Amino acid sequence: MEIIINDDHQVLAKIVVDSIEAMVRQKPDSVLGVATGSTPIPIYEELTRRVEAGLDLSQIRIFGLDEYVSLDENNAQSYAYFIRQHIIEPCKINPANVRLLSGVAEDLKAEAADFEAAIKAAGGVDLQILGVGHNGHIAFNEPTSSLASRTRRVSLTEKTIEANSRFYNSVDEVPRHAISQGIGTILEARHLVMLAYGEEKGYAVKEMIEGPVSAMMPASALQLHPHVSVLIDEGAAKTLQKADFYKFEWSSKETQTLD
Ligand code: F6R
Repeated sequence: MEIIINDDHQVLAKIVVDSIEAMVRQKPDSVLGVATGSTPIPIYEELTRRVEAGLDLSQIRIFGLDEYVSLDENNAQSYAYFIRQHIIEPCKINPANVRLLSGVAEDLKAEAADFEAAIKAAGGVDLQILGVGHNGHIAFNEPTSSLASRTRRVSLTEKTIEANSRFYNSVDEVPRHAISQGIGTILEARHLVMLAYGEEKGYAVKEMIEGPVSAMMPASALQLHPHVSVLIDEGAAKTLQKADFYKFEWSSKETQTLD
């Protein structure tokens, strides 16, 4: 696990997008897994700037991580809407190359199976962007999700519902269920890029990096993956025991690029 600590979210976004750009230049039809939420927004803004400067993303393929059950793509709270607004349109991605989970599919089991098959048919995800919830969830895999779980319908915890209510008029409007890639599905991506900002993520970050691997802390499953980059700010890094060591490792690298 490579850990990069920097308080400048723009600098971190540039490091991630450098990695995406290098990947796309080498493999124009790379498969990019995208997270929604506040944390990765600077990455999508930086990616947009690169596209405006000439980077061609017309061949890349996109997979989403999760979606609320019952919200369709035209609902402004849906993750499909977010992905269209922040990634597909500004980065000029071909909509035919995008596969997101549908929260309004009649048969969610069939939707999940079809989604998994689509990832397989694409040759797997090359780089997966991830965020982490305060309780350690990744995608919508809440604590106690199996570390081997696959894409499926899941229930959201009170903590997640409360955190997401900031985007709604009232907490009662927040959907209680989602369809989400499983932890086992996520672990099959070739490179996982996790971002977490602010002291309120400190507990999840500490447990993800330095805690035991446990279904109670879904993000700790990243310890089982051979190629993980974690980009965090000082707030999120505050309670790490070995922060100085991670800083030393990064600063002593020949180039400031992700492994
Ligand atoms: C979103 C997702 C979630 C978020 C997490 C952090 O697609 O998978 O796991 O990454 O809830 O969200 P933010 O970045 O808003 O703090």
